[in-house]
Amino acid sequence: MTATRTLPPGPRLPGLAQTALLFRDPVGFLGSCRRRYGPVFRVHLVGFPHYVYVADPQLAREVYAADRTVGRAGEGRHDFLAPLVGENSLLVTEDEQWLRHRKLLGPVFHRKHVDGYAEEIAAIAGREIERWPLEEPFELRPRMQEITLEVILRLVFGIADGERLERFRELLPRLLEATGALLLWLLPPSLWASEKGQRRLRRFPNPLRSFLETREQVDELIYEEIARRRSELDDSRRDVLSMLLRARDDEGRGMSDIELRDELITLLEAGHETTATGLAWAFERLLRNRDALERLVAEVDDGGSEYLDAVVRETLRARPVVLDTPRLLDGPLEIGGYVIPEGWYVAPAIPSVQLDRSVGPEPEDFRPERFLDEPPRDAWIPFGGGKRHCVGSHLALLEMRVVIAEVVRRLRLDAVRAAPERQRVHHVTLVPSKGTRVMASPRDLMPLRHHAESTSAPAAQAARIHFDRWAGAYGRSRLLVSLQQKALTELRLGAADRVLDVACGTGALIAEVAHRVERAAGLDLSSGMLQIARSRLLPDAGPGRLVNIEFRLGSSDALPFADGEFTALVCTTALHHFPEPQRSVDELARVLAPGGRVVIGDACRDSPPAKLLDPLFRRFEAGHVGLQRKRDIEAMLTRAGLRVTTSRHLWLGVYALVAAERPGSQPPGAAQ
Ligand code: HEM
Repeated sequence: MTATRTLPPGPRLPGLAQTALLFRDPVGFLGSCRRRYGPVFRVHLVGFPHYVYVADPQLAREVYAADRTVGRAGEGRHDFLAPLVGENSLLVTEDEQWLRHRKLLGPVFHRKHVDGYAEEIAAIAGREIERWPLEEPFELRPRMQEITLEVILRLVFGIADGERLERFRELLPRLLEATGALLLWLLPPSLWASEKGQRRLRRFPNPLRSFLETREQVDELIYEEIARRRSELDDSRRDVLSMLLRARDDEGRGMSDIELRDELITLLEAGHETTATGLAWAFERLLRNRDALERLVAEVDDGGSEYLDAVVRETLRARPVVLDTPRLLDGPLEIGGYVIPEGWYVAPAIPSVQLDRSVGPEPEDFRPERFLDEPPRDAWIPFGGGKRHCVGSHLALLEMRVVIAEVVRRLRLDAVRAAPERQRVHHVTLVPSKGTRVMASPRDLMPLRHHAESTSAPAAQAARIHFDRWAGAYGRSRLLVSLQQKALTELRLGAADRVLDVACGTGALIAEVAHRVERAAGLDLSSGMLQIARSRLLPDAGPGRLVNIEFRLGSSDALPFADGEFTALVCTTALHHFPEPQRSVDELARVLAPGGRVVIGDACRDSPPAKLLDPLFRRFEAGHVGLQRKRDIEAMLTRAGLRVTTSRHLWLGVYALVAAERPGSQPPGAAQ
């Protein structure tokens, strides 16, 4: 293409407004500029004089190729990063100085070497996952940060000693947090990075002072560690610091203490939050694409890793961790028909490049399969490109594969909300807006394959959270108890009955029937409810303890019980929360023995007030899926292969109580 003299077009809004738009919705802002101005556009960002984005795979390649001519990645990052990572860091250096370090670090991060870390990463992940909370919402990203920090401490810094580990564990997150101090990014370093500027800053409390103080403490600890390790050089050690201590450049020189310190901080800064965020995104995507999750779990269970690798790559494509990879130009660059002048920044916009049509159908969708067939090449740049591409990419990919496999092997995760999390700017990364909020349960509690068949995960999640919240008050509702009584009367229990109460809440019905049947089981989606039920009815020991009671966490549309396991089923005031009621009724029929009975009671849509209120509840009550008519309940039972025996309205048509039985011979001893 022939270059013109004009500069690329771009929004005319003031710089502050454009910066705000980029921070608020980075992917949306870049996408709309791409649509409006084409694949090369100019933006005004506070703190940067001139900034040009390219949003096309071929043009991104050209920017990276300029690393050999006019592109200065290190200089472009220098002012912002050097105060933290030091003047010798790979991130901020250029030319000979950069090349010397890149050659020393390169072999340490070579795929063959880092692959040897897999077992240790798995062990670290395993120990951390054991400590995750169960059955309560939590943010996954900070948990992943704990894992990736531990990986850096043990495999990069090579620290094994408990006491020193503790000191690093305490200080490093503080340093990373302090680095994020807004002022650090907004104030020109010329104002504070000098000795004089720093002396002034230390006079009063402010975020920069706390950054400087923490940096001092961390430096002290790192220099201590370097000195210790120099004095006890051990050729068998394979951690990054030990390898760097042994590494020699072309002239036989090793790294000095300050060079080592700068690279250790660099690896911490570049490798900790990025990988943790990639992991958080992997689950954010997987939990909203359950087919992919199911396929992944099946593969991990069978010991495979091909799909796992595709999941990792697709995560970094659909949700890149780094927004852009700027190059400061030290000469004009011809690109996309424009000539970008010296002194300007040019940056591939990673999210836009990775949404290019060349990645295959539906670029916006999360489809790991695209990496199995014909993997996107130029349009996959999560680790940047050119000679400055990420030195830790193999470690990051390995870490993500290993940690994801360790998680899905142990736990079943659910998203707390069905809506996807937004991409939000945090420091220099794009993070999930809610930190990837999840709930975890042990996999053996509810087999994942079973659950994955359920299409209802997000709606069920809403119901679960709703009931967790009001678990404390639930058992005290006289109304609910009286409805349960009516259902029980209908059920006509006998001593040989094995009863299951589906959506058992805090276990009031189980408490009532347990002493007069053979077995009484309660199932509920809410762990809050079950906690109360268990503490009430399952005391640790003691005379008079009922041994025929059990409570299980689970969903009505994937009952964790065998076919025909129960002779009597009851389900009251819950059907309207089931995302797929027919599926749940089919499940009830499945676990019911021939001749067994079932009673379903629920508020129904037959009366005018209920008809009016139903849409309102659907809108405002989390987990309210919709009321049925009495005859819908009858029809569902019939479709499930059961025979309706009685059916009536209570409370002037507001509530329906329908009983049915499974054809076949009566279970012996069950009352009729
Ligand atoms: C998912 C995780 C990661 C992502 C998305 C990521 C992404 C990136 C990107 C986009 C760059 C800039 C490349 C360019 O300018 O073209 C970069 C550079 C770098 N990364 Fe990573 N990174 C990750 C993990 C790691 C890890 C684990 C380490 C090491 C422990 C690491 C160390 C570095 C270093 C030292 C550089 C500077 C390279 C140079 O300028 O020569 N990164 N990374």
